[in-house]
Amino acid sequence: MCGIVGYLGKNRAADILIDGLSKLEYRGYDSAGVAIIENSDIDVNKCKGRLANLQEKLKEHVLDGKIGIGHTRWATHGEPSDVNSHPHTNESGTIAVVHNGIIENYLVLREWLSSEGYKFVSETDTEVIPHLVDYYYEGDLLDAVMKAVKRMEGSYAIGVICKDEPNKLIAVRKDSPLIVGVGKDESFIASDIPAVLNYTRDVYLLEDNEFVLIEDKGITILDENKKKVEKEIYHVTWNADAAEKGGYEHFMLKEIHEQPKAIKDTLTSRVVKGQKINLDSINITKEQIQDIDKIYIVACGTAYHAGLVGKTAIEKLAKVPVEVEVASEFRYREPLINERTLMIVISQSGETADTLAALRLAKAENARVIAVTNVVGSSVSREADDVLYTWAGPEIAVASTKAYVTQLIAMYIIALYFAENKGSIRQSEIDKIKCGLLNLSEEAAEVLNQKDIIKDFAKKICNDKDMYFLGRGLDYAVALEGSLKLKEISYIHSEAYAGGELKHGPIALIEKGTKVIALATQEHLFDKMLSNIKEVKTRGANVIAIAMEGHDVIEKTVDSAIYIPRVKSLLAPILSVIPLQLLSYYVSIEKGCDVDKPRNLAKSVTVE
Ligand code: G6P
Repeated sequence: MCGIVGYLGKNRAADILIDGLSKLEYRGYDSAGVAIIENSDIDVNKCKGRLANLQEKLKEHVLDGKIGIGHTRWATHGEPSDVNSHPHTNESGTIAVVHNGIIENYLVLREWLSSEGYKFVSETDTEVIPHLVDYYYEGDLLDAVMKAVKRMEGSYAIGVICKDEPNKLIAVRKDSPLIVGVGKDESFIASDIPAVLNYTRDVYLLEDNEFVLIEDKGITILDENKKKVEKEIYHVTWNADAAEKGGYEHFMLKEIHEQPKAIKDTLTSRVVKGQKINLDSINITKEQIQDIDKIYIVACGTAYHAGLVGKTAIEKLAKVPVEVEVASEFRYREPLINERTLMIVISQSGETADTLAALRLAKAENARVIAVTNVVGSSVSREADDVLYTWAGPEIAVASTKAYVTQLIAMYIIALYFAENKGSIRQSEIDKIKCGLLNLSEEAAEVLNQKDIIKDFAKKICNDKDMYFLGRGLDYAVALEGSLKLKEISYIHSEAYAGGELKHGPIALIEKGTKVIALATQEHLFDKMLSNIKEVKTRGANVIAIAMEGHDVIEKTVDSAIYIPRVKSLLAPILSVIPLQLLSYYVSIEKGCDVDKPRNLAKSVTVE
C-alpha cells in the first residue's frame, strides 16, 4: 500500500522520482506527489488520481532540484484528494515527508500536537509526522526524525527532507518495506527494487528500525542508537526489463505468458529426475519433519488459494494434517500452535501485514515457519526459519498470475520433500509426480496457445452481470482463484462453489442463460462433476467447461469446452488456472477496464 521514493544526486530529482513512482504504481494509485528542494525552498506538487495527472501538472512547472521525495497513494485515512495526497509538510513548509504504512496512535499525537499549537490540514495519519519532526527539530534532521519515530506506533517507511539541510535525505522503516539504491554519485530510497533499477542494481535491504542518512558524500545506515550498521550490498541480478511490459499491452498478459518460464525457474535444481528433492535454502531436519503433527498454511488473496492446493498436496503426499487459513482471521482467533506445529506462510510480496503478523504469532508460540515468497529480502523471508523462493520474477499487475502458479509449484515441492523425508508414500509415486512437474512448463505453453479461443469466449460473456465457477476437489480451489480474478479486473460479480454444494442454496440463482464456468479436470471426480453440470444445465445455465484432453465426452453436456493437456489430477491446477486467467484478462479488455490497476485494489497490502 503506497509507494515511496527519494533521490539525492546530480540529476533532476523530479524526473527520477516520477520514473520511480511509475514502477510503484502497483502499490496504489489514488494520488501522487513529489517534494523537491528548489531554490532553497521545498516545492510540493501533488494531486488526486493517477501519476499521469501529476506528470501533466509538472509539464507546466519544471523543477530542477537535485533532491526530493515522492509518493503514490492507496488511501486508508482520508479519501483520495489533493489535500490528503503526500508529501505532507509542517506548517511553514520547511519539512516534507512521504510515508507508507499506518501511524496507529495518530489521533493521540494529533491531539497533543494541536494542543501545542500545530495546525492540521488533511485527514491523514501521516500529517502528524512532519509536525512531530518539526517539534523536535533543533538544526539536526536525523536527530529530529529519530526522536519523532520514538513517539510513533504502527508501521512506516518514511522519507524526509528539510529546507534548512538541503543536502540530506533521511529514511527509516518499521514493518513497511524500504530499500536503498546505491548509485555513482547518487542515492535512492524506494519501497521496492524496480523503482531504482534504471539507475543501479546495488541496493541495501533495510531491517526494521534502521535509519538511512543520505548525503552528498554517500549513505550511512544507523541503528536506533545512532550506531553505524555495516550492511552488505545486495546485487540485483534480474533485468530492469523484467519489470517492463516487453511489448505486451499489459503487465498481466505478459505475466500470464511468462508462466512456462516461471514454472521452470522455480523447479530448476530443486526437482531433478532421479534425484531427491534438493532444498538448499531449507534447514529443517528430517527429525523435525517427522515430529510435525500439524501444518497451518496462512496467506491472503491469491496466495490463500495456492494454500488450498497445498493442503491437498501435503496431506496426500506427506500425510500430515493441514489447515489453511486467511491470515487476517487466523491472527485473531487464538489458534492452537505449539513446537510441533509448522506454519507455511505464502506471500508474493512477503510484506502483507496480516500474513506477517500470523508468522510472528507462530514464532512466539515456538512453531517453525517456512516462508514461500517471491521477493528476496522481504519481511517474511527475513523472519521465517526457512525460505522457499518462488522464482516468478517481478510481478507488477495487481492481479496475481505467475506468482500463483509458482506458489503451487512450491507447495508440490514442499509436499514431495516431506514425503521423501518421512517415507510416507512409495518412491515410484514420488518419481511419477516429479516427472509430471518437469513437463508442466511445456504443457503450460500449450494452454497459452489457445488464447484466441478464450478471447472469443470473453466476447460472449463480457456483458453478463453474474457468473458462477464450479469445481470439486482441487478444481474447487482453482474455481475460487478464477472467480477472484474475474471480480478483481472486470468487476463482474462472480462466485465459486464446490460442485456438490450447489444444491444447498446457490442453484436457486441459476436461470436461463446464467453463465457457469465448470472445472472438470479431476479424474476421480469427473463423473460426479458431470452430474453437477447437468444440474445447472437443466435449469438453463450456459456452461463453459475446463477439462482434460480425452474427456471430450463432456461436450455432450456443456455448451463449450476448453481442454488442458492430460496430467495427474494433483498437478492439474497449474494448467487449469491459465484459461481462467486469460478469460478474466480478455473480459476486462472487452469491458474497457484498467487491467493492471483495478479500482480500489493494491498489490501489496501492508495494512490490516
Ligand atoms: C493483494 C493482491 C493479491 C494478493 C494478496 C496477497 O490483495 O492484490 O494479488 O494475492 O494481496 O498478497 P501477497 O503479496 O501476500 O501474496
